[in-house]
Amino acid sequence: MEMASPLVDKRVLVAKEAVAYYESIQEFLIAEDHDGQLLGFGALHVMWEDLAEVRTLASDASHRGRGIGSALLEGLLQRARFLGVQRVFCLTFEVDFFRRHGFVVMEDQRPVDPDVYAELLRSPDEGVAEFLDLARVKPNTLGNTRMILHLDS
Ligand SMILES: CC(C)(COP(=O)(O)OP(=O)(O)OC[C@H]1O[C@@H](n2cnc3c(N)ncnc32)[C@H](O)[C@@H]1OP(=O)(O)O)[C@@H](O)C(=O)NCCC(=O)NCCS
Repeated sequence: MEMASPLVDKRVLVAKEAVAYYESIQEFLIAEDHDGQLLGFGALHVMWEDLAEVRTLASDASHRGRGIGSALLEGLLQRARFLGVQRVFCLTFEVDFFRRHGFVVMEDQRPVDPDVYAELLRSPDEGVAEFLDLARVKPNTLGNTRMILHLDS
């Protein structure tokens, strides 16, 4: 939470209550050094049978450009494959970083069929609302780019 809060203040990461971090702790991968100091973190949130989101991915500002973010992202994508998810969504300012990992900017504004859309509307999760591009969360997503990765297997 300490590492996330400056990024939340800058609106790079979505604001979350402390309880939401604890409730989603099993979604997270973390990177730490030999002394156990936290260097980065990221989460994979499953939304539907074939769809998940990479969220809250960050590495410590003083340790960027050393492969920590890539290792975390690849670990999360490995987890997505293991779970059988075929598409991974992200909402980000770091377009080049995600592009280098195979993500493409979403052109399709209707990424799910109407039945699934209706089901996803029932979710109380803000990230799902952002994925659906709902008007009420637009202030959170301003300037971010919606990207998606299609996993091969
Ligand atoms: C996006 C973010 C997680 C990347 O973390 P990172 O630890 O710097 O990631 P990496 O080091 O793997 O990659 C960063 C760059 O360093 C370079 N790099 C990767 N491994 C490297 C290594 N071993 N040595 C030197 N450079 C390396 C890459 O060229 C990469 O370039 P790219 O960003 O243009 O792809 C980080 O910038 C961040 O925390 N941003 C703020 C939070 C955010 O916007 N998160 C995304 C929203 S979910």
